[in-house]
Amino acid sequence: MRIEADQVTMVLNGRTIMERESLVCVPGAMTALVGPSGAGKTTLLHLLGLLLRPTGGRVLANGADTTAWGARQRRLFWKNYAAFILQDYGIMEEESVAFNVTMTSSLFRSKVVGDEKRLKAVLMETGLGGREQELAARLSGGEKRRLAIARALYKDAQVILADEPTASLDDANGERVIELLASLARQGRTVIVATHDDKMMRAADVQHSLARFSDAPEGRGE
Ligand SMILES: Nc1ncnc2c1ncn2[C@@H]1O[C@H](COP(=O)(O)OP(=O)(O)O)[C@@H](O)[C@H]1O
Ligand SMILES: [Mg+2]
Repeated sequence: MRIEADQVTMVLNGRTIMERESLVCVPGAMTALVGPSGAGKTTLLHLLGLLLRPTGGRVLANGADTTAWGARQRRLFWKNYAAFILQDYGIMEEESVAFNVTMTSSLFRSKVVGDEKRLKAVLMETGLGGREQELAARLSGGEKRRLAIARALYKDAQVILADEPTASLDDANGERVIELLASLARQGRTVIVATHDDKMMRAADVQHSLARFSDAPEGRGE
């Protein structure tokens, strides 16, 4: 699925943090949103994932203007097409690995519902093989990132949006996450990452630079 920002402007609390930003993210490519802290990488990622609505301009999904979409259409986009790997990982800590991947539950925690074969395959692919029943809260930071990627693989999401997916990971885990995301792109998905990690940027097919907008204050967090 092709995701496009067309002259997108974002005003938050009366402050312009992005002005007329345009970019096209195509299937089969990994697009990196890069720039210094506070440049608007996370905001643009959320706009492209329809988590935020722009105050100006349009976000297009396969050419359709999503700006006018209501809650129902957005929900269908999230359910059927998109997967997010966000900074808080989007992981349900008190649930099992299996639940976090399949998003389906059973009355009996130990029973896997959903496609068990597929669950096993995506856990193997992300290095979490055999850990279905573990509580997500027990996983390390790197494992939680991979769990979020396993969920994207399980649902066969066409659009994968990741916010600083390698942040605070050691080299080996970082490289593993980069390789998993790159392989999702090679398989024809649209992969979009907000990052300031050099290795992640270099692995991307397209780099879209955001300059810190002049009226934004210095020293804000990620
Ligand atoms: N909900 C919000 N309300 C007001 N300002 C925000 C909000 N979210 C982000 N910002 C501001 O927008 C700018 C861009 O933030 P962000 O997209 O998080 O940048 P990055 O991810 O590149 O570090 C920052 O100046 C930040 O303080
Ligand atoms: Mg950010």
